[in-house]
Amino acid sequence: MHMQAVRIHAYGTPEVMQLETLSIPTPGSGQALVRVEAASVNFLDIQHRRGDLVKQAFYQQKAGLKMTLPTIIGSQGIGTVESFGPDTANPRVHTGSRVAFFGSSYATHAVVPAAHLIPVPDGISLEEAAAGLNQGFLAYAFTHHTYPVKQGDWCLVQAAAGGLGHLICQIAKLRGGRVIGVTSSAEKADMVKAMGADEVILSQQADIAKEVQRITEGKGVHVVYDGVGKDTFEANLDSLTPGGYLVIYGQSSGYVPPFDLMRLQEKGSLFITRTNGLPYTHEYPTYLQQFATWLKEGKLSIRIDHTYALADAAKAHKAVEQRRSSGRILLLP
Ligand SMILES: NC(=O)c1ccc[n+]([C@@H]2O[C@H](COP(=O)([O-])OP(=O)(O)OC[C@H]3O[C@@H](n4cnc5c(N)ncnc54)[C@H](OP(=O)(O)O)[C@@H]3O)[C@@H](O)[C@H]2O)c1
Repeated sequence: MHMQAVRIHAYGTPEVMQLETLSIPTPGSGQALVRVEAASVNFLDIQHRRGDLVKQAFYQQKAGLKMTLPTIIGSQGIGTVESFGPDTANPRVHTGSRVAFFGSSYATHAVVPAAHLIPVPDGISLEEAAAGLNQGFLAYAFTHHTYPVKQGDWCLVQAAAGGLGHLICQIAKLRGGRVIGVTSSAEKADMVKAMGADEVILSQQADIAKEVQRITEGKGVHVVYDGVGKDTFEANLDSLTPGGYLVIYGQSSGYVPPFDLMRLQEKGSLFITRTNGLPYTHEYPTYLQQFATWLKEGKLSIRIDHTYALADAAKAHKAVEQRRSSGRILLLP
């Protein structure tokens, strides 16, 4: 039996991704075979394809990305469990269950660790699950745990129209925060407003920190959520109120270079973290219920920018890399 998969044989531009026909692997002990219904196009996939993660041991050891070539691209997807390997079970899912999974998702089939499969609650559409389930967990973890937003807090959200950014905006608002979203174009700014942001700063036209100080009447924000990294680092430090928190979860513009810790004191005894959702995985069941409720009550909206076929993975990557996407792009095998 055969499957289709988007593989790379060398790191490079979007064109290194090729749609290939491969044999469907047999799941081994501890694994499950999933028929993929949708793969989310994450910035992480772009970094993987470009080779940016090769020297980052974390992504191989903890995120399960394969750093040897050839490799299938993709890190998250939604699908249906087709079979389990020998002596393997997951009490929360069975054959035929609709699940979210982590692993090489730009394919019609994926063999993944069975223990990590997450059942998709009823009432959540395929698109909502693919674009929002796991990304929503990060937005939930960052706003509830990493820096728990309090009523009235000013929150600066960088790349606020992004796949993760638009969820952080909405969940920070649900906690009673006042959100300033940053994005690069007027069109994306409209979308950020629609996601509930109180204010929007156009990064190409304004000095972000000055605008933040103007909006907050010189007080600065209590927290910055940032997935952009290098390009926004200085503006983030200059936007925070004394004792404020800089939560860095990504680096779409490049890694933040090493810096002198004393600068945190100089800027007002700031806190800073580079984080992900892993410290809070025990919260996932609580989050899952909350996510389903927010969707049902219309309090959370998952924005799908575009869907593409697997054969058009390069087009999808270019749209994200060239900052043309807002919300999440999906590949539908
Ligand atoms: N820590 C974690 O667990 C975790 C999990 C998921 C994602 N991430 C990270 O979070 C970040 C966002 O991921 P995402 O998949 O949701 O992507 P995304 O935000 O949908 O896309 C990236 C956005 O970053 C902005 N950007 C600023 N400078 C850029 C540059 N030089 N090149 C490209 N984009 C630039 C663009 O928005 P504007 O045009 O509006 O500026 C662009 O739309 C990524 O860095 C990703 O690696 C981390």
